[in-house]
Amino acid sequence: MLSLTWAILSALTLSVSAGNKIWDGSFNPFTTATDFDKWDWSTPVGTYQWYIHGSQSTSRYLAVSSDYKNPAMSSEQRGLKLTIDGTSNWNGQTLERTELIPQTSSNLGSGNLFYHFSVKRSSTNPPDSTLEHQVCFFESHFTELKYGVGSNPTSLTWMISGAEQWNIPFDANTWFNFAYDIDFSAGTVGLWASTGSDPLKKVVQNRSAPTSTNSADWHLGVLRIVTNQTPEDWYFSGVYVENGPITTAIGSGGSPPSSSPPASTSPSTTQPTTTQAPTTTTAGPTQTQWGQCGGVGWTGPTVCASPFTCTPVSPPYYSQCI
Ligand SMILES: *[C@@H]1O[C@H](CO)[C@@H](O)[C@H](O)[C@H]1NC(C)=O
Repeated sequence: MLSLTWAILSALTLSVSAGNKIWDGSFNPFTTATDFDKWDWSTPVGTYQWYIHGSQSTSRYLAVSSDYKNPAMSSEQRGLKLTIDGTSNWNGQTLERTELIPQTSSNLGSGNLFYHFSVKRSSTNPPDSTLEHQVCFFESHFTELKYGVGSNPTSLTWMISGAEQWNIPFDANTWFNFAYDIDFSAGTVGLWASTGSDPLKKVVQNRSAPTSTNSADWHLGVLRIVTNQTPEDWYFSGVYVENGPITTAIGSGGSPPSSSPPASTSPSTTQPTTTQAPTTTTAGPTQTQWGQCGGVGWTGPTVCASPFTCTPVSPPYYSQCI
């Protein structure tokens, strides 16, 4: 009976259970930094929202080049160099921020999803380990990397709701590959990691976390706390979100593995899609601080968590909980 049920579930979910990319954050479509400017609230085109940045032109904060990718990623033509500096204050904040947000109609907050990205620094414009950095975080900070904090400030430290779980020294000129293993139904998150071209391994098993996203609040980039003039360069590559099972190979992301065995085929790894509630505008969900709460086309939460107020910051296109 159990296997029959599983067979039916497998058939029903076959099209979504083979490690499909549900959002592709590859920089292949971006041939120059100005391509990110094609997106705005009135013309939400492409794969990234680009609005959390300082007042200077985009080329001051973003650059794309084949030199900026993880060389193991053969399917990627280029990676991203992302800069924060003393001009990176966004929206009147004293924080410095250069962040990209997924632009997608996919639900990035349902079922078991893997948020993949790789990050590197070099010895030029390295991050300052005396300052707190939030890296690749969700608005609610249920999971993220940090740098410059905690027991190992020179490490990339993986956090759940601000509590340290794991860290690795953030050495120069090494690519650090990650996947956040998030079960939005069960409320758990685990971590996969590797360096260079090594396949991802699960380095932290699932732990309880208040998992949630409105599909437009994962921040691919860096937030530096306090104003500091010193520029920092961060490099990103291999960005995508897939549903399970996870693709562990670096560079072949998001399609069913052909030459390597599947990471796991245990029936428990797939959640029936019928149990997953979509993002809804009905009473209940509230938006967190800095999250979107209104604007043209917005279908997410319109009520802000206390004590924040939904404020039109770029009317009529964008309102935010401030
Ligand atoms: C971790 O969570 C994922 C998603 O729910 C699940 O597929 C996997 O089996 C879990 N792993 C363990 C060891 O519990």
